[in-house]
Amino acid sequence: MAHPQKKLNADLEADAGQGPSHEVRSAISEGLLREQALIEPKFLYDTLGSSLFTAITQLPEYYPTRCEAEIYATHAQAMADHIGTVESLIDLGAGDCVKAEKLFPTLRPRRYIPVDISAQYLDQAVARLRRTWPDIAITALGLDFSQGLRLPSSVPPAGRLFFYPGSSIGNLDPDAALAMLVRIRNQSPNGGLLVGVDRIKSRDILEPAYDDALHLTAAFNLNMLRHVNQLLGSDFDVNDWQHRAHFNTEESRIEMHVVARRDLVLTWPGATRVFTAGETIHTENSYKYSVEGFTDLLERAGFRGIRHWSDQRDWFSVFSART
Ligand code: AVJ
Repeated sequence: MAHPQKKLNADLEADAGQGPSHEVRSAISEGLLREQALIEPKFLYDTLGSSLFTAITQLPEYYPTRCEAEIYATHAQAMADHIGTVESLIDLGAGDCVKAEKLFPTLRPRRYIPVDISAQYLDQAVARLRRTWPDIAITALGLDFSQGLRLPSSVPPAGRLFFYPGSSIGNLDPDAALAMLVRIRNQSPNGGLLVGVDRIKSRDILEPAYDDALHLTAAFNLNMLRHVNQLLGSDFDVNDWQHRAHFNTEESRIEMHVVARRDLVLTWPGATRVFTAGETIHTENSYKYSVEGFTDLLERAGFRGIRHWSDQRDWFSVFSART
């Protein structure tokens, strides 16, 4: 590429699209004004953030992607047998669509519906997929499915398989995860769910996965501040903040924060917030589950026929369930 910097700027502008909605700006503003400030993890994913996440999945410390790939490589046929015929494969948080694509030969879906908040990143992936899989009808949805899950009428209600990989459900606290599972079940009469879940394990394995030696996760976390500057018109200086990740054993979750390196005042249209050195903004939770804990959640959401498969080290599990 002749002008990489130009390309990057163009991407970032395109991410802003029509300009963020009033709802988006007031939600971010409200989070920043809480005593424990927070920014929702979905704002990690502008075009650069999605690229950084893809890079993270290739790090030696970040085991979940490889564990999940191992599970599919070993058990895809057993899963397909359990699931049965798939009319429509609905990929929640599709990103580069690579995980779902690997399942196409085994699951043989008639339709593929990738859903991702980063519409531009998704469009690039879909252009490639259409060339490789001309027989699968692809409808890409660039939307935030945490705000609701209504699918277009071109997707028939029967035979829907929701694919929710990568332990993305771990971003939700258990109550919100239950609500999301109930919404999926309501959208899928006579259908199923394939969901990836990260397991509880030693802090010595968990923490480096979220605080890697190359500092890619730090870049991913701090990039969110630049994204928020674009969305909100705030004046975050990335240099004033530091990445932090730790395992909260009580809550069974990795927490990511950005920590203020000095006393500072953050300003955006209509508000200001003072941060003292060491104060944090909570940017992500990544919940870890036991097999029993996640099975219980699926049962409470009304799923039946629950099965699960794990990698050799039992670090990650894929659950299959029917509605
Ligand atoms: C995409 C939400 C599954 O929680 O492991 C990776 C995001 N955050 N490194 C995760 C993430 C920091 C990831 N999920």
